[in-house]
Amino acid sequence: MGQTNNTLLDTIKKRRSIRIFKKEKVPEYILMDIVDCGRLAPTARNLQPWKFVIITKASTLEKIADVTDHGKFLAQAPCGILVFCEDTKYYLEDGCAATENILIAACAYGLGSCWIAGDKKPYTKKICEIVKAPDGWKLVSIIALGYPAEDPYPSKKSLDEVLLWENW
Ligand SMILES: Cc1cc2nc3c(=O)[nH]c(=O)nc-3n(C[C@H](O)[C@H](O)[C@H](O)COP(=O)(O)O)c2cc1C
Repeated sequence: MGQTNNTLLDTIKKRRSIRIFKKEKVPEYILMDIVDCGRLAPTARNLQPWKFVIITKASTLEKIADVTDHGKFLAQAPCGILVFCEDTKYYLEDGCAATENILIAACAYGLGSCWIAGDKKPYTKKICEIVKAPDGWKLVSIIALGYPAEDPYPSKKSLDEVLLWENW
C-alpha cells in the first residue's frame, strides 16, 4: 500500500455543504490561510488569474445574499469569500480549482462552507458592483463560510456507479 495522508483524505470525504452557521466569527489568520490554499491551486499555464475577496461586514454579506437566487443564507454567515478571475481561456476551471481548495481547507479547520453559484448567473454583475470589481474580472464563485450549525448528509452516488476501468 502506498503512503496516504489520511487527515487530508478524511477531510475531503467528510466535506459537505453547510448553509446554517453559528454566529461565531472566524479568526482572520484562518481566513487568510484558507485563501492561501486557494491561491495554490493549479491553473492553466500557471497564470494564477485570480483575486479573492474576503467579506466579513454583515451589511455587505446581506447585499450579496439579496441579489442571489439560491444563496440567501449568506446573509446569516459570518463570512464570505468571492473568487474572481480575469477573463482568460481557462478562467472557469482555474477559479473552480481554487474554490474547491478553499472548501477543503475550510473543512480542515472545522468550518462549514457552501459554494454559491457565481459564473453564468445574471446577478454576478450586481455583485461586481457591490464589491467594486474592476472591468474584465469574472465572479467564479461565492463561498459562504462559518462554524457549522447543521450536519447534512446528502446522498452520493456510490463508487460502483461512477467508476469505469479502461473503457466505458
Ligand atoms: C458550481 C456550483 C454551484 C453551486 N451553487 C449553489 C447555490 O447557488 N446555492 C446552494 O445552496 N448550493 C450551491 N452549490 C452546492 C451544491 O448544491 C452541493 O455541492 C451539492 O448539493 C452536493 O452537496 P455537498 O456539497 O454537501 O456534497 C453549488 C455547487 C457547485 C459545484
